[in-house]
Amino acid sequence: MRAEPGGVPEEGGPEVFGGPGVFGGPGVFGGPGVFGGPEAGGGPEAGAVRLFGERFGGPPEGVWRAPGRVNFIGEHTDYNEGFALPFAIGTGVCVAAAAREDGVVALSSRQYGESVVTVSPGVLAPGALGGWAAYPAGVAWALRSAGHRVGGASLAVDADLPAGAGLSSSAALECATGLALAGLYRLAVSRPELAALGRRAENDFVGVPTGLMDQLAVLLGQAGHALLLDCRTGTGTPVPLDPAAAGLALLVIDTRARHELTDGGYAARRRACEDAARALGVRSLRDVTSVGELDRLGDPVLHRRARHVVSENRRVLEVAGLLRGGQLGLAGPLLTASHASLRDDFEVSWPEADAAVDAALQAGALGARMTGGGFGGSVIALAPAATAAGVTRAVTDIFGRRGWRAPVIGPVQPAQGAVRLR
Ligand code: GLA
Repeated sequence: MRAEPGGVPEEGGPEVFGGPGVFGGPGVFGGPGVFGGPEAGGGPEAGAVRLFGERFGGPPEGVWRAPGRVNFIGEHTDYNEGFALPFAIGTGVCVAAAAREDGVVALSSRQYGESVVTVSPGVLAPGALGGWAAYPAGVAWALRSAGHRVGGASLAVDADLPAGAGLSSSAALECATGLALAGLYRLAVSRPELAALGRRAENDFVGVPTGLMDQLAVLLGQAGHALLLDCRTGTGTPVPLDPAAAGLALLVIDTRARHELTDGGYAARRRACEDAARALGVRSLRDVTSVGELDRLGDPVLHRRARHVVSENRRVLEVAGLLRGGQLGLAGPLLTASHASLRDDFEVSWPEADAAVDAALQAGALGARMTGGGFGGSVIALAPAATAAGVTRAVTDIFGRRGWRAPVIGPVQPAQGAVRLR
């Protein structure tokens, strides 16, 4: 099963980006709908509407769009009730939808074969289906389980966000679906509640034990800001993040190594954190505030895993303080320290990510780190705007020398969260 089904599957990758390693300048990851130029016929909004007409007949009642996210810092902290600092990006997933009277949830995706998957009301339960359709069907199930009166719906999906790139196409799909169902059935459901239900769909319907960061970033993101998430309370506070205004560029490097959160590594890390918290007698690793307290952990692996989480929480709060003080440029070393901790202590980085980070730093980046759950996906690099082209070249060169597929690299800016488009 794909870990990030909302977006464009790898097979479609190069065309979507306009060719491996080719970028259309500023706004490639960050600009609304721009991702190597709109696809033929006007991008995912038009694509979802067209697919809706082809599969279900007539126009949809509405179209909703949810973006992907980049996590600036704070990795594997969310399910430890800690802190994270993600932001929404300019590319995402569009859902064109209409209510149905037969109670059936019918789903079709431009990226996943365009056939229609139908789920009758009686069988909408965990285990009923797998693959990409489990994510939107899981949201309908989660809403119904929470007591919301959601009837049937036809949904057509199109995306300009790559799947498996660590940019949360799964949360984008869940949140666009959640907003669509809430809109169609006029549900009184707040965005934080919708985020929690998206996570519930992913945890209990799809079966991946992820935290709440992605859904909160996708639903609460604001242009020009990252969100300081407190994952104990489930709240997010906007913090200014405007690299261009600081003379900097924030690059996203899709290493094209694909991750699958369903492979087991993610769940194993989560279990290790829970084991460490239990051994320390705390509710979660959030409650450990200094690395010294971890000396009581006898198991060296648990010690390393917990050290990552405890140190990462501190880095998030430090970076948030720098952003609030208008000192984005000083965040670089903390980003790089986060990567080292994910590589050495948490052991979720991968060879392409380590090489990209090293090459970016050597070419003048102020800091760089993997972003997302790990085991594949993307890296971010913060660089003076004048060195961004050199960083891009250096990373592309090392991938070429190692015989890896060309990375896809482009600047990103924090963008608005999910919206109803029409
Ligand atoms: C994935 C999960 C998130 C979070 C990150 C790691 O993106 O969906 O909940 O745990 O990994 O920070």
